Amino acid sequence: MKVEKFREYFPGLNQQVYGRNLIYLDNAATSQRSLEVLSLQSQLSKMDNANIHRSVYNLADKATRYYEDTRDYVKEYLNASDRKEIVFTSGTTFSINMLAYSYGDIAIREGDNIIVSEAEHHSNLVPWQFLCQRKGAELRKLPILDSGEFDLEALEQLMDERTKLLCVAQVSNVLGIVNPIEEIVAKAHSRGVKVLVDGAQGAVHQKVDVQKMDCDFYAFSGHKLFASTGTGVLYAKKELLEQMNPFLGGGEMISTVHFENSTYADLPYKFEAGTPNFNAMPTLKPALELLKMSLEDEDLNSNLEAIKEYVSEELKKDDRIHFAAESVEIDRRIPLFSIMVDGVHHEDLAILMDKMGVALRSGHLCAEPLMGRLGVQGILRASFAPYNTMQEAEEFISCLRRSIDILY
Ligand SMILES: Cc1ncc(COP(=O)(O)O)c(C=O)c1O
Repeated sequence: MKVEKFREYFPGLNQQVYGRNLIYLDNAATSQRSLEVLSLQSQLSKMDNANIHRSVYNLADKATRYYEDTRDYVKEYLNASDRKEIVFTSGTTFSINMLAYSYGDIAIREGDNIIVSEAEHHSNLVPWQFLCQRKGAELRKLPILDSGEFDLEALEQLMDERTKLLCVAQVSNVLGIVNPIEEIVAKAHSRGVKVLVDGAQGAVHQKVDVQKMDCDFYAFSGHKLFASTGTGVLYAKKELLEQMNPFLGGGEMISTVHFENSTYADLPYKFEAGTPNFNAMPTLKPALELLKMSLEDEDLNSNLEAIKEYVSEELKKDDRIHFAAESVEIDRRIPLFSIMVDGVHHEDLAILMDKMGVALRSGHLCAEPLMGRLGVQGILRASFAPYNTMQEAEEFISCLRRSIDILY
């Protein structure tokens, strides 16, 4: 499919800012929603709106089926071995917090340690800080090399008999490197260490197969891959979920309730207390279908590859510009560029480029420890999606050069 055709699925792309066509390059923060996602959410809110799992009437049954069919689809999409392994959440942040609480509760004792890479988003760091503080456990840092890759030799040294968990991003939201997750999982498992993969960025750029990855836990957000906000997934191996205690108590997560105590519902409902986001969660299905199509489409793939190569080369041509993970081979990176310009503040660049119609992220990108490692306080990030065109990439480069000329 031609990119021009694919863009038609995304009405949000077709607008102007400051009298110029919007060039949306903040896809790593959130993607635009597809037409099907928008119309499904609208239909579910307008017509098929009834609380799920609770009632016997037709409308409630219909709404429940939308929700549960989505779970089946996500199970297939991730190649999980059982639908019980798919817990719906509001997004990656919730998934990881839930895991830190529920898994932390049963698996982490005083004196244990958890390894987290220094390239993690705050969502995959702060919940582990909470847990370590609560339990008297130690938080260990998996360092990155100057290239931005994980230091896998250091990982071997860091793991010991008290290491219970390793938490790493499949792809960092700053570096854009596709990490060798299967190799990392194998290393961790050989030492008896469980692995959480933060797939918030990784799920967007490659088909996920949790059994092949063999990770114990995998988290992602719907809003980064064309679905509605407030949708997300925690995948976990069934035997682990079975051992874990619920994070939130409330309606629908119980089996029986007595005044003094309760027993819990089967998986995955034990982890889905209260009224879920049933108008939005079903949008995961059309979103993942569209994502899958785009990942398999030759034209869309070669367009995105060409953009990645072009932007990479153009940035390298200008001595004033550096970008994170520049030395890592291009086929191990996603089309995401975290840019530093000598003597120019990232925020000034972002403001100026916004006036030219280019939407970019600037700041610490929710990864302050990584900013420290890169020796900067903030960064300018351009992240591309399959609906971005080469013309937009060229305009981005030209606006960046013009902005640097003005600010330098
Ligand atoms: C790598 C990574 N992890 C976690 C998150 C948090 O995702 P959310 O805000 O959707 O919960 C993000 C969001 O940018 C991310 O890029």
